[in-house]
Amino acid sequence: MTRFEPSGPLRGTLRPPSDKSISHRAALIAAMAEGETEIRGYLDAADTRSTLGAVEALGARVENAHPAQIASELRIHGVGLCGAGPATIDVGNAGTLLRLLPGWLAGQVGERWVLDGDESIRRRPVDRIATPLRQMGAHLTPRDERLPPLEIDGAPLHGITYEMPIASAQVKSCLLFAGLLADGETRVIEPAPSRDHTERMLEVMGADVRREGLTVVIQPAETLVPSLIAVPADISSAAFFVVAALLVPGSEVLLRGVGVNQTRTGLLTILERMGAAVDESELTGEHGGEPTANLEVRSAPLRATEVGGAEIPLAIDELPLVALAACFAEGTTTIRDAEELRRKESDRIETVTAALRALGGKVESTEDGMVIEGTGGLRGGTIDSHGDHRIAMLGAVAGLASEEGVEVRGMDAAAVSYPGFERDLCSLQSR
Ligand code: S3P
Repeated sequence: MTRFEPSGPLRGTLRPPSDKSISHRAALIAAMAEGETEIRGYLDAADTRSTLGAVEALGARVENAHPAQIASELRIHGVGLCGAGPATIDVGNAGTLLRLLPGWLAGQVGERWVLDGDESIRRRPVDRIATPLRQMGAHLTPRDERLPPLEIDGAPLHGITYEMPIASAQVKSCLLFAGLLADGETRVIEPAPSRDHTERMLEVMGADVRREGLTVVIQPAETLVPSLIAVPADISSAAFFVVAALLVPGSEVLLRGVGVNQTRTGLLTILERMGAAVDESELTGEHGGEPTANLEVRSAPLRATEVGGAEIPLAIDELPLVALAACFAEGTTTIRDAEELRRKESDRIETVTAALRALGGKVESTEDGMVIEGTGGLRGGTIDSHGDHRIAMLGAVAGLASEEGVEVRGMDAAAVSYPGFERDLCSLQSR
């Protein structure tokens, strides 16, 4: 049990850890390339260590300049698009690894792989990738038709046009990887744009991938060309400090080098609508096709808002924080069209509702979201992370902004994406 006391103003500056989504993709795409890819600022966290383990198991060589600190300089010698060796892969808790990797493996004829992970990953559905991959010709065997472990027997693939029933960057990325090995063009139609890191990185590494409205089109490739990849700070991790600084009166925090790709900044748009002022200063351009900025946040009074539709995929991992902020706002906030939250590391509609209610919040869950009546603050109390990193960190932020403090059961879950979270939060308090 970890306790977070009500805090005085948060002050200072920090660089949040590197982006998890971009790090997973960097390791996987580097493994697919022929030759050496240098990755600067790879995220050193449990999920992204699973991805390094996976690419090593497939035959890629991972060279680490400073083994105690993988974030500094990483070189990956890829095996080429068709060179992955057979393996049993432990994806740990990493849903992104579980959904992306099969896209690459499915098209390598004559090999066999098994993907499995921890108890929580065994509850995360893979039918969302199995269905379209089978249409491309893949041979996949998930447990009970929809869950890990997932067996993959490499087979020849052909390009398809696939209309995704849900906006999912994981499904889209999986199909783009499969499209590299398919015979003919692959077209993926999204109901609304989701994060596009895969498209950007594949393009930098020489693939023919383009967007036509809501459709992403990829051509088969012979090889991917290694390139330098610099990973920006993760806006989904920065988000905890953005909301903490907004909610704790008198706060003023500067977050450096944050990735501000427009497919990820939904939280900032929502908070601005609620009355927050987040200053974004553009940095010197882009690294590996990803724009970065410094974010300056000051505390501010908030008003309620409505969140739904195309905004959901742009803020999917930050919706728990929107719900927390809404507890402090004036008026009633509604989040809808977010049923996907039920299929994250926990059922986040239920775990967020339970957590905020336990702290005195007036929150109702709905089938596809939450209704939050703002009461200007939260009393405090005890919450359970349910092994979900984002719920654990949500509890910590709530504690700082609460009247009586918050105890979080299962704070260690934060290590999945942010091992130094408590230390960084503390550093903003002691200034
Ligand atoms: C991710 C995509 C999102 C997100 C997840 C990471 C990615 O999932 O929730 O944390 O890196 O592609 P979906 O694509 O399933 O919405």
